[in-house]
Amino acid sequence: MEKKTGRVLVFDHPLIQHKVTRMRMKETSTKEFRELAKEVITLMTFEATRDLPLKDVEIETPICKTTKKMLAGEDIAVVPVLRAGLGFVDGMLSIVPGARVGHIGLYRDPDTHLPVEYYCKLPGDIDKRHVYIVDPMLATGGSAVAAVDCVKKRGAVNIIFMCLIAAPEGIEALQKAHPDVDIYIAAKDDCLNENAYIVPGLGDAGDRLFGTK
Ligand code: PRP
Ligand code: URA
Repeated sequence: MEKKTGRVLVFDHPLIQHKVTRMRMKETSTKEFRELAKEVITLMTFEATRDLPLKDVEIETPICKTTKKMLAGEDIAVVPVLRAGLGFVDGMLSIVPGARVGHIGLYRDPDTHLPVEYYCKLPGDIDKRHVYIVDPMLATGGSAVAAVDCVKKRGAVNIIFMCLIAAPEGIEALQKAHPDVDIYIAAKDDCLNENAYIVPGLGDAGDRLFGTK
C-alpha cells in the first residue's frame, strides 16, 4: 500500500462546530456529551473517508444494465486510544460497519504528561488496512505519537489520526514525529495550560465521556 502525505484538515462544517461547542460547555451532561461525540464523529467520518478508492462494477437496475462505482474493497481499521477514543467507535462503525477495531491503551502520567502504554491489540492484517486512530484530544501530542508508533511497529502504513480538538503544540509534535500521517480535526484551539490541558478545550475527555473525575 502506498504511503500518504501528511495533511492537517479541519472539518469545520457548521453542524460539527455547533456540536463541538456543546461538548465544550461545562454544563453538558455525560449522557449528552456521549451522544454528541457519536454524532460528531459520524459527520467527520463522511469527510475522512472521501479518499477511499472506488472501482467500476456492472450492475442491473430494474430498468437496465449499467456500470457504477463501489468501494474497491480497501479495508478499514478503527483504532481508538483508550479510554476516550472509545466514544468514537460506534459513530464510525455506523458508517463503515465492516471495519475491524483495534485498541491501544495509553494514559498520560499526571506529573510528566508523558504517555504510558498498557495495551495494544490490532487486527493481524493491519499492514493492508486504512488505519484510523481516534482520540478526542491532541494536546502535547505525546499520546498520538505513541499510538502511531504502536501501529507502525505492527506494520501499518496508511494512517490517519482523527480527533476533535487539537492544540498547535500537539499538531506540531505529531507532524514532526510522523510526517506521513494525515491529521483530521474538528477544531484547532489556542494553546496548552500549565497542566498540559487544551485551552479553551473541553476539559478531560475521558472523565466527561465516562462520568469519572
Ligand atoms: C487524554 C486524551 C489523549 C491524551 C492527549 O487521555 O484522550 O489520549 O490525553 O494528551 P497528549 O496529547 O498530551 O498526550 P488521558 O491520558 O487523559 O487518558 P484517559 O483517556 O484514560 O483518561
Ligand atoms: N487530555 C484531555 O482529556 N484533555 C486535554 O485538554 C488534554 C489532554
